[in-house]
Amino acid sequence: MAWLLPTGNQINLQLGWPSAELFPAAELNSSANEVLSSFDSAKAALIYGPNPGIPALRKQVARWLSTVYFGSGASATSIDPARICIAGGASQNLSNILLRFTDPTYTRNIWMVEPTYFLACPVFEDCGYAGKLRGVPEDDEGIDLHFLRARLEQAEKEAAAVAAARGTEDKPLLKVAGYEKIYKHVIYTVPTFSNPSGKTMSLHHREALVRLAIEFDALVVSDDVYDMLCWPADRTVKVTAGAIPIPPRLVDVNLRLDPESKWGNTVSNGSFSKIIAPGARVSWSESTPAFATFLANTGATWSGGNPAQLTSNFVEKILASGALEKHIKDTLIPTYATRYYTMVEAIHEYLEPLGVFISTGKPYLVDNELEVAGGFFLCVSLPKEFPHTSELAAKSIQEQELKFAHGRMFGVKGDAGSRERAEGDGGYGSTLRLCWSFHNEDEIVEGIKRLRDVLVAVL
Ligand SMILES: Cc1ncc(COP(=O)(O)O)c(C=O)c1O
Repeated sequence: MAWLLPTGNQINLQLGWPSAELFPAAELNSSANEVLSSFDSAKAALIYGPNPGIPALRKQVARWLSTVYFGSGASATSIDPARICIAGGASQNLSNILLRFTDPTYTRNIWMVEPTYFLACPVFEDCGYAGKLRGVPEDDEGIDLHFLRARLEQAEKEAAAVAAARGTEDKPLLKVAGYEKIYKHVIYTVPTFSNPSGKTMSLHHREALVRLAIEFDALVVSDDVYDMLCWPADRTVKVTAGAIPIPPRLVDVNLRLDPESKWGNTVSNGSFSKIIAPGARVSWSESTPAFATFLANTGATWSGGNPAQLTSNFVEKILASGALEKHIKDTLIPTYATRYYTMVEAIHEYLEPLGVFISTGKPYLVDNELEVAGGFFLCVSLPKEFPHTSELAAKSIQEQELKFAHGRMFGVKGDAGSRERAEGDGGYGSTLRLCWSFHNEDEIVEGIKRLRDVLVAVL
């Protein structure tokens, strides 16, 4: 994907990649050295790995997630390593989840919060869901639950009618022997610092969404890949980096509401791509132990062992030494927070006078007062008088060497309703997604100024 990198004078506010100067290459180098410099540890790292990942990494991930989400006090919850499964990236893990827990002859639909992370659509299509992807509008608190409930009820009625017409029971036809749990629905969401909208789902909606999933036998796949990159929304509020409580994951809400469930109704899909480097291709997921075990045993993993075996060993060392936590706290959060503040201030100064505004939804407050921001993205909405955002994106590349993602890109593939909503009044088609992770502060300001120039030129 190197062809996506900006060339010459180009500024690319579309790329949702960490900037290369932030990669912890030195820390990885010393971890790799440690792993490869003795015969025994090199042998262990270079052999086929255990299906769910090396036990040492699962233990480290469980320890680290426990402190990140629950604090480090004696009474803090300790995550069971049996809930952790290692994979070669959140994208690959999404595919594995679908392979193991869904069946396109039975799983009714994939419900995707829209605007959606568009690169998830082909993963769903690969697994047999082309034509079955459906958008669920994102409201101010993260997901329109009334819309979702109505559509789930409708889909259930349709599935019953199909089974009746077929004269068979409503059951999976492809995944039969050996597949103990096949869900009726999949709900895909990025609830915290969403890609693309930047919104964070409210506590109320998190709980209601999990309850809905339990009621309808749905699996919520929650891409929690931006959670660790969290800071105060206000530049003047001083909080130690990494000290803000991160919004609770849906998987934790699920465990609290339904602790005895064997399979659960939520899987948290985490990744080291945004906090170490995308090329590391190591990720984790958290779910019930039964889910994690079954997920680990895809056919390809039985044959090839864990897909991230070598780099898992490096990541284990970087976690065990505390180097990754330090890197997130001392480098990533301060750098991304500063870039975020710079982008927001530049938008206030250069774009708001044109009627453009940041569409963040309802602010997410910690302890009812501290507004949090984080992740890589925000979206701005454009007033009606501007041409379509896809036209603006093309113009912007041509005339200003500026790239950004336009709203239409984030539609749910194959869903006519999603397309219609994008183009409706105030729909997500009239938004632009801007990313602060890739460029430094000067380039971000220059990018926003170029965007202003594009907008002024068309007015
Ligand atoms: C929401 C979301 N999920 C998944 C990914 C990809 O994660 P990975 O590199 O671990 O496959 C991204 C990367 O942009 C993302 O934004």
